[in-house]
Amino acid sequence: MSLDGDPLSVMDNPAADRHPFHSETTSVAAAQGVWGCLRGTHCTGHAHRLVRLLAAVCAVGLLGGLAVGVWFLVKLLLRPSYSQSPAGLGDTKETSFCNVTEDNFISDPRKVFYRISPENSLLEIQLGNLPTWLPVCYERWNSSLGTMVCRQLGSLRLTEHKGVNLTDIGPIYNDGFIQITSGHKSNLENMWQVRGNCITGKVIALQCFECGTRAKLPRIIGGVEATLGRWPWQVSLYYSNRHTCGGSIITSQWVVTAAHCVHNYRLPQISSWVVYAGIVTRSSAKMAQHIGYAVEKIIYNKNYNHRSHDNDIALMKLRTPLNFSDTIRPVCLPQYNYDAPDGTQCWISGWGYTQPDGVHSPDTLKEAPVPVISTKKCNSSCMYNGEITPRMLCAGYTEGKVDACQGDSGGPLVCQDDNVWRLVGVISWGTGCAEPNHPGVYTKVAQFLGWIYDMIEVDRTFV
Ligand code: ARG
Repeated sequence: MSLDGDPLSVMDNPAADRHPFHSETTSVAAAQGVWGCLRGTHCTGHAHRLVRLLAAVCAVGLLGGLAVGVWFLVKLLLRPSYSQSPAGLGDTKETSFCNVTEDNFISDPRKVFYRISPENSLLEIQLGNLPTWLPVCYERWNSSLGTMVCRQLGSLRLTEHKGVNLTDIGPIYNDGFIQITSGHKSNLENMWQVRGNCITGKVIALQCFECGTRAKLPRIIGGVEATLGRWPWQVSLYYSNRHTCGGSIITSQWVVTAAHCVHNYRLPQISSWVVYAGIVTRSSAKMAQHIGYAVEKIIYNKNYNHRSHDNDIALMKLRTPLNFSDTIRPVCLPQYNYDAPDGTQCWISGWGYTQPDGVHSPDTLKEAPVPVISTKKCNSSCMYNGEITPRMLCAGYTEGKVDACQGDSGGPLVCQDDNVWRLVGVISWGTGCAEPNHPGVYTKVAQFLGWIYDMIEVDRTFV
C-alpha cells in the first residue's frame, strides 16, 4: 500500500507549507471529495486516494482514542493505590470520623429544678417526675438553704428571703406545695416532698445575688467590636503594664480567669497585676479615670496541668470591691450539672490577637458568637483525638474562621439562658487559632462550682 498521493504528504510538502492558502484549498477539496465518495457518487481515482487518506486518519484516530482510553483506565486502576498514601488515608478517616452521629437523647442528670418567679419572687420547685412548678412552704427554711438554692441557680449567694402569706398572693397555686423534709439531709435534691398545703400558711420568697444582666444600651448590629456595657463582666488583666489575659467578674471582689495566665513566675508577683473593669478600649485603661484594681490574692486550681491544660481555672481577688454600674457587672455561673448541648449558641469576648499568625492585639474589645461542639465530636480523631477531658468543652466551627486567640485566655465564654448570661467556659487553649477542625477549648466552669464556692468562702471576707 502506497501513501504516495496521500494528502498528508501534500501537507508535509514544504512548498505547500510555504503557501498556506494553497494548502488550505487542497484540504477543502479533499474534504469535499471524501464526502462525495462516501455518499456513493463521483468516486474517482483521486477520490480513492482520499479514501486511503480517510482510512489512515481513521486509523490514527482509533489509535489515539485507544491510547486515551488506556490512559484513563490506568489512571482509574491506580486511584485506590493513591489513597493508600498517608494523606489519602487521613482524608478517608477524617470524613468518616468527622460525621460523628450525636445521640438524640440528651440526658439531664438533674432530678430537681428550681426557679424564682419573676412576678412575685416566690421560690418554685419542679420535682423531676412531676410536670408542675410548686411553691415551697416556709417551715424548716433557713438562709443556708437559700444560699444552696441560689447556687443551684448559678448565683453566688442569697440576698433576701422571707415567708409570704399565701392569702397575700391569691389563689394561683392549686396543685400543691413543696415542703422541706425533716431530718438532716446532706443532699439538697433529697430535701423536698409534695404536700397538699403549708402548715404556717406561708411560702418562701427569695432573691439571689443579681448577675448576668446587661443594662439596656444601644449596640452596633452585626459589628464585631463590642460596645461598652455589652459584656460588663469582662475585665482585662494587666501583668507588668501589659494586657496579658481576660477575666470575668463573678462578685464585686472576685474575678475568674485561667490558671495558665497566672501560674509559675507570675503567681508570686501579685503587685504586678492590675485589673481593668468597665472598659472596651485598652487605651482607656491608661486614662486617669480608669485606675486599675490592685490584686490581693490569686488562687489557681491545684489540679491544673500545664501539659494537658486540664483544670485551667484560677480566681483573683481584688483588694477593693468594684462598684457595679451599667458597665461593670457580674456574670452568673452555670447551673449545677448543666451541660450546654451541642450547638448551643454562646459568645466569646476579648482583646486577643485578631489574626492567627499576627501579633496584633486590638484596642477595642472584640466579640464573636460560637456554638458549643459536643465533647464526643471534639474528641474524635479529626479534631482533638481524645485530648478533651471532662473538665473542658469545645466551641467554635468545624471550618474554623471564628475563634479566640492568644491574649483572650482567661476571658469568658458566656451563654444566655433563663434571661441571664452564664459563664459556661473560660478561654483556655486550642491548636492554632480559628483553624479548621481545631475549635477553641474552654474550661468547663460547671465542673468547678464547688471549688469556686469553697475558695471564696474559705476566704471569709466574701462580699
Ligand atoms: N492560650 C491562649 C491565651 O493565652 C488562648 C488560646 C485560645 N485559643 C484558641 N484557639 N481558642 O490567650
